Amino acid sequence: MTIYTSNFHLDVPSIDIQHLIEKYPRLRSNCKTTNAYGKRKGDAPFQYDFTKASNQYDITETIVQEYFNVPQYSLHRNKLCPRINNRMEYLSIVENCLMEGIEIYSQFKENKEPNDRWIVDIGTGSSLIYPILGLKLNERNKFIATEINRTSIAHINSLLNDELKKRIKLVVIEDNVSNLIPIPKEDVHVSYVVCNPPFYKDENELKSSETKKFTKKPNEMVSEHSELYYEDGGEVGFVKRIIDESIIASQLPQFQFCWFTSQLGIYDHISILKEYLTSKSVIQIHEFRIQFKTSRWILAWSFQDIIHPVRFTSSKKTTSSTISQIEIALNQHFEQIENPHFRYKLIGFAGTNNKLYVIVNEVIWLRRVRRMLADNKAMIGTSSERTSTSPMFNKSIILRLYQDSYSSAKYNVEVVSSVNFPDIVTISNSFRSFINTILHQ
Ligand SMILES: C[S@@+](CC[C@H](N)C(=O)[O-])C[C@H]1O[C@@H](n2cnc3c(N)ncnc32)[C@H](O)[C@@H]1O
Repeated sequence: MTIYTSNFHLDVPSIDIQHLIEKYPRLRSNCKTTNAYGKRKGDAPFQYDFTKASNQYDITETIVQEYFNVPQYSLHRNKLCPRINNRMEYLSIVENCLMEGIEIYSQFKENKEPNDRWIVDIGTGSSLIYPILGLKLNERNKFIATEINRTSIAHINSLLNDELKKRIKLVVIEDNVSNLIPIPKEDVHVSYVVCNPPFYKDENELKSSETKKFTKKPNEMVSEHSELYYEDGGEVGFVKRIIDESIIASQLPQFQFCWFTSQLGIYDHISILKEYLTSKSVIQIHEFRIQFKTSRWILAWSFQDIIHPVRFTSSKKTTSSTISQIEIALNQHFEQIENPHFRYKLIGFAGTNNKLYVIVNEVIWLRRVRRMLADNKAMIGTSSERTSTSPMFNKSIILRLYQDSYSSAKYNVEVVSSVNFPDIVTISNSFRSFINTILHQ
């Protein structure tokens, strides 16, 4: 067995508002007083008042300055104030669920170092928020950010210092008919595309959406026309255009293995856009939910058919073992894993950040398979080599185990990627019960 170490690492800062209030006294005037005399009760921590729009701008600027290495960061006060948690969650989901599979697969299976990571952000806004968060998240990330609005472009230029310019390229979009997806030079490889599209078609759609949500959120009250509206169909119209352009872009080497994604603010739009993707013969379509105060969804699609992103198998059983104990137990039993459902050989694993990656390949030395190979009734190879309908015996799967964030005595199993493997739910369940068996022997 070979033991690999994964290069995949995300640096997700944990934001501590109390710490910021203690550190920056200027934020205290934005805190709620907790008794009738305007004083805090006992030692109760400061309570930041998020209900005022200006307070949201102040805290967001401070969060970015403190946790995302942009000390001069400022927000344009007449533009959308981005919610950091929501934006971080979007990027983390794309990285963890979509990119990790591709990178670990190429590292382990093809022995290739991952490509340079360019990310396209369509409509980056005056806040340049996805690029700024994304640079911190992964030190290899670089962004191509597009924007059409003149005021926003001026503000972005004021934010782009020499350090940021090395990793963020701003593409100015001249008019509404120009391409949404910029085509970079041939030596650039785009790993994924993100977008937070203009939300609504017109004022009527905004009004009906706001009445459904019951509360008005101050950060959405302050926004400009181009942030709010896309007359040609709102977010559905905007994302349909991205889909159309992605079909053409995916033919180019710059977009090979690229994941195209967009955030959606209205649940009903997911099915409309999924249907549109299906009508364009796109097979790999996934959706994810982001839930903080309001729900958002991420729609992701791709034109590759080899790697499937993470499928989640929730933990039903508990174990008091830590990830490193699981690693030791696997080490002792790695030679062969065989049970009626799990006839696979473990070929390697790597643990980072309390996650354990386990790569299993189908056991091609099983007597049944050997006989088929000898009789030329089966083949070994990759899907691109497939020439007949003979069964393939190169199935492999990369699983990820990690401790549940709510209970360290539980762990979750996820399928990070699977190649030629149809029944990944069975294998991940079997893997989970296998772990339980070896840990309780
Ligand atoms: C909802 S805002 C999102 C801003 C930022 N990405 C965020 O998440 O806060 C949509 C942005 O798309 C920009 N936009 C609209 N049409 C565009 C186009 N054709 N090309 C590039 N950007 C566009 C708007 O000016 C606006 O900044």
